[in-house]
Amino acid sequence: MSIENTERLPEAISLLLEWYSASRRLLPWRQDPTPYHTWISEIMLQQTRIEAVIPYYERFLQEIPDIPSLAAVPEDRLMKLWEGLGYYSRARNLKKAAQILTEHYGGALPASAEELRKLPGIGDYTAGAIASISFGLPEPAVDGNVLRVLTRLFACPDDIAAPAVKCGFTELLRADYPSGEAAAMLTQAIMELGETVCLPNGVPLCRVCPLRRLCRAHESGAELDYPVKSSKKPRRLAEKTVFLLCHEGRFAIRKRPGKGLLAGLWEFPNTEGKLSPEEVRGAVAALGLTSEHIEPFGEAKHIFTHVEWHMTGYRIDCAQEPPDLLWKTPEEIARDYSLPTAFRAYQKKIGGVE
Ligand code: ADE
Repeated sequence: MSIENTERLPEAISLLLEWYSASRRLLPWRQDPTPYHTWISEIMLQQTRIEAVIPYYERFLQEIPDIPSLAAVPEDRLMKLWEGLGYYSRARNLKKAAQILTEHYGGALPASAEELRKLPGIGDYTAGAIASISFGLPEPAVDGNVLRVLTRLFACPDDIAAPAVKCGFTELLRADYPSGEAAAMLTQAIMELGETVCLPNGVPLCRVCPLRRLCRAHESGAELDYPVKSSKKPRRLAEKTVFLLCHEGRFAIRKRPGKGLLAGLWEFPNTEGKLSPEEVRGAVAALGLTSEHIEPFGEAKHIFTHVEWHMTGYRIDCAQEPPDLLWKTPEEIARDYSLPTAFRAYQKKIGGVE
């Protein structure tokens, strides 16, 4: 890997700190950046937009204000608080880590990136973020936003999908990283520049960028050539048929398996493939149900990281409620059970959520 013009880095750091002092956004986790607050916010912010995270963060902290309460929170309650944020293993790892912290670390996050990295769900990025933002340690936190800013600043042509590139930039930053309050500011400044100015899709806002004078990509108008990233595998398409089984105003739900995609969440019964109404009748009979009326209930699509669900819904009025499914009103489902966002379109149609 080759990074040229790295002598520009100290000046870039000064400009970033100045810019952040003047332009930082007021975000809830910045008001009292304890290690716990930074940890929760950084985990929520992975793959999720800031505006989407804010209400979740506030609700979460109100109910789970510290590490001991996180270690003790019932799984279903945790899933309910996370419902809609996606990537539910993040929440499960938070609880696992809180239990480890309670048992082995006196209930507090350790002030060391190396120790933090040993905890479930905490990788290099999150360890660096907690270490610098809350402990003032000279530890960079390099994510996609930061790589975009740096590959443009240095016009670095290397493929950011290669782990060596991330390591290279981490080491480069670490050599010049400040400590104390400036470490906290620098970590957030680079991320914030990537999110608000050095934008990923479309045209970056170079006119207001504090680094425009130093940016090698900007010199030649080549901002959009960076970062270089090898293309990902295309997502798999999965057809599904979703059964909205209804009896006397109650709908059937069931718990998903404890492992794999959306583990442990609740769902409307469904099966692989796009079934015809005739096949639906057969599948419903196989569930031990007598259907009184079957009607198409619309198509829905949900995109996950590696797979895309294309769903075909059927509403089925049933003559009875077999006990191996749970039968609840739409209001009870919305209040007490965590269903993945993938089923939201059908939840809306039966009522109980907006
Ligand atoms: N994105 C993820 N973490 C962030 C932070 N602490 N500040 C700004 N943007 C972020």
